[in-house]
Amino acid sequence: MASSATAVASPNIAFVKYWGNRRHELNIPTRPSLSMTLAAPLTSQTTVAFDSSLKADSLELDGTPVVGDGLARAKSVLDAVRQAAQLKSFASVSSANSFPAGTGIASSASGFAALASAAWSAAGLKWDEQKVSLVARLGSGSACRSIPGGFVIWNPGYRADGSDCFARSFAPPSHWPELRDLVVVLDDRHKAHGSNAAMQASAKTSPLYASFVMEGERRVGRVRRYLMGKDLSPLLQEVMEESDLFHAVCESSSPALHYLGDASKAVQRAVRDYNAEMRGTPAGYTFDAGPNAHIITRAEHVEELKSRIQKAASVKAFFVSAAGPGAKIV
Ligand code: PMV
Repeated sequence: MASSATAVASPNIAFVKYWGNRRHELNIPTRPSLSMTLAAPLTSQTTVAFDSSLKADSLELDGTPVVGDGLARAKSVLDAVRQAAQLKSFASVSSANSFPAGTGIASSASGFAALASAAWSAAGLKWDEQKVSLVARLGSGSACRSIPGGFVIWNPGYRADGSDCFARSFAPPSHWPELRDLVVVLDDRHKAHGSNAAMQASAKTSPLYASFVMEGERRVGRVRRYLMGKDLSPLLQEVMEESDLFHAVCESSSPALHYLGDASKAVQRAVRDYNAEMRGTPAGYTFDAGPNAHIITRAEHVEELKSRIQKAASVKAFFVSAAGPGAKIV
């Protein structure tokens, strides 16, 4: 007997970052994080089929079989769903991204969010956003934030088993429809190191890690307040400070994690110059564990920023996204 379901999910961009775990095997983070779930055209679409005739779980990404760590992470999501549904069958999983994987556009977040959603539904379970978020977290921490739509907070929770460690939305996408994430792809090659091992190294070795953790909760409080008040300038100052602190943590880790290249720094300068000319902070950059920039701004600034950034750096692609609806069964 087989039963299948397909889900779509989008990446999310963290204004306050997740980097390091209190319990590594369960992706229970050391600090809260806050993100905006993005909208199409950036999506992962994943189909999960549970089939009692299968001898093992399998995973295919953009037509290529995935083994090793990627498959192991998919299995931890599938195992959690099987446990919730009291199901024994193995599953075949196929996933496709509308954007290049491994570019720092967090394809793992949208991929594992779509996988958790499709598996939940294929197993015959009734949709429960918090539970699907918990399950997505096991594949990739930040994936739990791509289950709810709009503006999202992921709290570490208190329970040792992570059962209160899920993400939830505090404002829908319609709260701030003019807000944009201008994604600047500077390098479309695969990342040199996976974020899971890297964040563990930072937690152990960066002298800045303790203050990064301590600052998390206060920063989430401020960013949430500025988002609710649509207070763009202080919001984007916080977003840039957080990105700078996150990369200082990475660079002060041993061995050092250098995610920002010359082109990333040129984009930072172009944003700072634009803000200086505008005598305010209409644009703010943030970078995840990769060289590509996310410029947060209002829709009216996007075209001017694109043309300035194109002059400052060699750009592989731009994507423009707004706040989106979260993971959906299709
Ligand atoms: O979910 P992971 O293991 O890919 O970690 C992602 C971490 C960052 O993207 C760098 C920050 C974040 O909060 O999304």
